[in-house]
Amino acid sequence: MKLLLALAGLFALGAANQPISTSKVVCYYDSKSYVREGQARMLPMDLDPALSFCTHLVYGYAGVQPDTYKMVPLNENLDVDRTHANYRAITNFKTKYPGLKVLLSVGGDADIEDPQKYNLLLESPQARTAFVNSGVLLADQHGFDGIDLAWQFAKFKPKKIRSTWGSIWHGIKKTFGTTLVDEKETEHREGFTALVREMKQALSVKPNMQLAITVLPNVNASIYYDVPAIINLVDIVNIGAYDYYTPERNPKEADYTSPIYTPQNRNPLLNADAAVSYWTQHGTPTSKIVLGLATFARTWKLDGDSEISGVPPIHTDGPGEAGPYTKVEGLLSYPEVCAKLINPNHQKGMRPHLRKVTDPSKRFGTYAFRLPENDEGGIWVSYEDPDTAGQKASFVKSKNLGGISIVDLSLDDFRGLCTGDKYPILRAAKYRL
Ligand SMILES: *[C@@H]1O[C@H](CO)[C@@H](O)[C@H](O)[C@H]1NC(C)=O
Repeated sequence: MKLLLALAGLFALGAANQPISTSKVVCYYDSKSYVREGQARMLPMDLDPALSFCTHLVYGYAGVQPDTYKMVPLNENLDVDRTHANYRAITNFKTKYPGLKVLLSVGGDADIEDPQKYNLLLESPQARTAFVNSGVLLADQHGFDGIDLAWQFAKFKPKKIRSTWGSIWHGIKKTFGTTLVDEKETEHREGFTALVREMKQALSVKPNMQLAITVLPNVNASIYYDVPAIINLVDIVNIGAYDYYTPERNPKEADYTSPIYTPQNRNPLLNADAAVSYWTQHGTPTSKIVLGLATFARTWKLDGDSEISGVPPIHTDGPGEAGPYTKVEGLLSYPEVCAKLINPNHQKGMRPHLRKVTDPSKRFGTYAFRLPENDEGGIWVSYEDPDTAGQKASFVKSKNLGGISIVDLSLDDFRGLCTGDKYPILRAAKYRL
């Protein structure tokens, strides 16, 4: 009897010691997907199968009104009007998923009108007050649990890996259309710190409102984020560790877009591990750090000068063709990539499928390509798949970080077209956390 009791006690202890995952799974929903066509069109109800995996749902994106500096819906029609009222549709998911936190994100590189306003706002205490007050009101009125500042800071200049291609970089002027040169970095860093403080203060008047910040790709965190000054004020730091290379910024050279560690002979700052280190080295509790992974692929055209091995960095000729559903040059959703990877039974007249190259070291990511052939164009694709998403989740776990974020749900395979499973990237990451 005693032995039995002792054993029962041991079992009970064992069960209690089972680690219950407290990892965050922060799911971004980009409302742009509402107006895509065909298979890519995503409605709020399509989110449902994802939400049992998500701890946070982040609605992207609100914007800044240029003259008043108020935080406003970027698409009023869709976000708040009676007919669609997506803000409400999204926050209403909390009835079905009571643990879910729903945040409203502002910026996110989605607010393209007059990008300078993000800097000007930081320079003016009055503008910050207008932004904070309108933002808290907007979030509170629509049932959000907080705000995510995905601030649109100036991005650093694209960096070449091999300088010999410098002379043929004719795309560079166009690229800089959206890349601001910031002559007041210090002022903007201080302004952002003030904004975080003011936003936190305004949010804390309401019960249980969270404050998250998102570091957008190619924003230099060491310039703009004064970690010791802001870290106690924010609940989540979401690091956008993808798009280190993009066809828009780097039209003539393709590379792994979101490596975990530094590939050989590359800039040691442009990877997830380095991005995380900046925050931890400046005293961020690891539990607040969330690693952002992209569900979309970046694509480049290959031409006659591209190395036939396909190994990156590889010479390219600008962004790849737009996908059939997402219709954006240089970008494919995961299901669009997946469709290209399927061997079309060697049927005559079918475009050849892409050759997938995985990384046995699990450090840099997967790519796929097809060399140009006769009149068929070549393409090079860097993308996240369920395997690499799982590798990122394992990295997060090994570093004891707070969790992962999925940017965004609409470009994961939300219909289950690849294998029948809906949201395969989200699932794979969640299972490895
Ligand atoms: C970010 O800024 C720091 C200086 O504050 C600089 O040393 C570093 O190279 C920059 N990182 C990138 C990726 O440009």
